[in-house]
Amino acid sequence: MAAAPKPVYWLGNDTLRVSAALFAENRRRLCEGLKGKDGVVPQSLVLLQGGEQKQRHCTDTDLLFRQESFFHWAFGITEPDCYGAIDVDSGKSVLFVPKLPESYATWMGEIFPKEHFKEKYAVDEVHYACDIADVLSNLRPALLLTLRGQNTDSGSICREASFEGISRFQVNNTLLHPVIVECRLVKTDMELEVLRYTNRISSEAHKMIMKSVKPGHKEYEMESLFQHYCYTKGGMRHTSYTCICGTGNNSSILHYGHAGAPNEKTIAGGDMCLFDMGGEYYCYSSDITCSFPANGKFTPDQRAIYEAVLKSSRTVMAAIKPGVKWTDMHRMADRIHLEELVKIGILNGSMEDMLKVHLGSVFMPHGLGHLLGIDVHDVGGYPEGVERVDEPGLRSLRMGRLVQERMVLTVEPGIYFINHLLDQALDNPAQSCFLNNQVLARFRGFGGVRIEDDIAVTADGIELLTCVPRTVEEIEAFMADSGKPFSPVVTSEKL
Ligand code: GLY
Ligand code: MN
Ligand code: MN
Repeated sequence: MAAAPKPVYWLGNDTLRVSAALFAENRRRLCEGLKGKDGVVPQSLVLLQGGEQKQRHCTDTDLLFRQESFFHWAFGITEPDCYGAIDVDSGKSVLFVPKLPESYATWMGEIFPKEHFKEKYAVDEVHYACDIADVLSNLRPALLLTLRGQNTDSGSICREASFEGISRFQVNNTLLHPVIVECRLVKTDMELEVLRYTNRISSEAHKMIMKSVKPGHKEYEMESLFQHYCYTKGGMRHTSYTCICGTGNNSSILHYGHAGAPNEKTIAGGDMCLFDMGGEYYCYSSDITCSFPANGKFTPDQRAIYEAVLKSSRTVMAAIKPGVKWTDMHRMADRIHLEELVKIGILNGSMEDMLKVHLGSVFMPHGLGHLLGIDVHDVGGYPEGVERVDEPGLRSLRMGRLVQERMVLTVEPGIYFINHLLDQALDNPAQSCFLNNQVLARFRGFGGVRIEDDIAVTADGIELLTCVPRTVEEIEAFMADSGKPFSPVVTSEKL
């Protein structure tokens, strides 16, 4: 039997082997997408610039490098300060690596020859970045396609490739962005395999935490355990975003864990925990939230809120398939939350009237979910022509388009008791008329519940990538038995 080709990325042990073919396929798809587009003339050349090594403020201390996402998608290069070019007609790939100073060999390690990168990354040619103008001139491109476009989540503009001598070339910086974004939106089989892996490792890490958490622990200990598990078992040096380890009232702080609120509270016995954490492997993300009581046993109120969110999560997942509107999925989750909050006694009144005043967004101010890939909030949510719905809640939705096969998305409904939003609603007669303040008072300080799973859209439904205990019974049984592993019937459940 022929030996399997050497992976471009593998960290040994049980970590995932990734083939350079993943990136060759991405480049092939990009060229296919560009060919025949208005303005993409024969002999066009895509030019991407990779991420730069940066230092802490004005010091000489290196920040831990993470590759720029578009560049990673096209080349899978782990080193900083590179460029990559792709000939659209032939698909030929050219990598430019920095010419490192001799001192690098003393301080940083071996300086590899260009051939090393050619073989490692399976590209057609490798040159030094300092020679880029001359090398590109010799290729005689009719047009350089550089990447400029807005990230619709952050509003930031991606950094366009530039180098000394670029003024000698004909450059177009608008054609590439929409095409490469469309390519990133649709995941290949090889990409799905990596996303299954990031989900498997991150799910295991969440389960380990559910077994470990005890009142008296600090929130940051859970963050640390998660990172340790993902790195030691999964080779994940990075997480996809800052870990959110909110307990008690902190579980209602949507992006808790930042420098101003750094997961520093001591976990108390009656607290709900909301742990939103995802490991990243070779720049591919995961984004998972588990909510459960710190002491492993739901109170009646905790169970009621949790099961309301679980109902919306599972109902929405059962409805997702190619062709459905993501905004409709958000509205579906909102409606279920409101129905369940009526049953709990927090709300009363007509459902249609509650929807008219956007009451759902008081309890779930964020969007139902977002695209996931090399970025945790992956690109492509709002292509030209798709507008955000300017309504509370929906305006925070990071994707406005129809669901498509091979999209990878998060489904992350939540119900939160955010004092600021509750007070605003109580001050607003159009909303306060639905609120039962006596019952609501009981939930002040409760925090919140979010259930966040990652899914891949199939031809007729979804593949659930995340695998953690989800029902109240599963969670309580799992947390009660410190020795017993959680064993679901299948690892990648087809819904
Ligand atoms: N962890 C960020 C998010 O769920 O979108
Ligand atoms: Mn999340
Ligand atoms: Mn998310």
